[in-house]
Amino acid sequence: MEVISHCAEAIILRDGDNVVKRRLPKRYRIRELDEMIRRQRTKSEAKLIVEARKAGVPTPVIKDLSDFEIVMEYIDGRPLKEVMSEELVRKAGELVAKLHERNIIHGDLTTTNILVRGDRIYLIDFGLGYFDEDVESKAVDLHVFFQTLESTEIKAEELKKSFLEGYKRYKGWKAVVEREKEIRKRVRYA
Ligand SMILES: Nc1ncnc2c1ncn2[C@@H]1O[C@H](COP(=O)(O)OP(=O)(O)O)[C@@H](O)[C@H]1O
Ligand SMILES: [Mg+2]
Repeated sequence: MEVISHCAEAIILRDGDNVVKRRLPKRYRIRELDEMIRRQRTKSEAKLIVEARKAGVPTPVIKDLSDFEIVMEYIDGRPLKEVMSEELVRKAGELVAKLHERNIIHGDLTTTNILVRGDRIYLIDFGLGYFDEDVESKAVDLHVFFQTLESTEIKAEELKKSFLEGYKRYKGWKAVVEREKEIRKRVRYA
């Protein structure tokens, strides 16, 4: 198996048509607690991937699940940040609208956690995701995404507009967008 990514939290291995996301032990945590946390996060991520898919958001198909490992479909695509366009970012906005409609918070909405394969886009990495109906959590998702655009894209403002065109499919969009602006101010003056 080939390693495709390795960070402090997890290692991602490619195994033919599948990838294995294995959560790694944290040496500084007591073993029992560490295993409990890893087991819980693995299960929670798999659950969110399945729920997102049910909400109509393309995500990798889950093939198998064990204590610290998710086996899922390998998406042979490119991260959004490498193939960025207004059209794709508008589609991303539509997908986030579908998540938020179902109170699914992605938790790490960056342009590397969105994969583009053909004309389809997939959301991955629900490791920090959770279910929540609060405007604040949804606004943080938008904020993280906008921050990513601002730090990597020259046309960040246009791209944000396109994203919002898609996101407006979510009936609660207005409150979320307003809250995101407040978060922006809070961050600036903090
Ligand atoms: N199902 C998948 N198909 C293809 N590539 C994947 C898949 N899952 C993860 N990857 C690749 O591995 C990287 C890290 O995986 P991710 O789930 O985002 O974990 P992390 O929490 O380490 O960011 C992704 O940015 C992507 O490049
Ligand atoms: Mg990631």
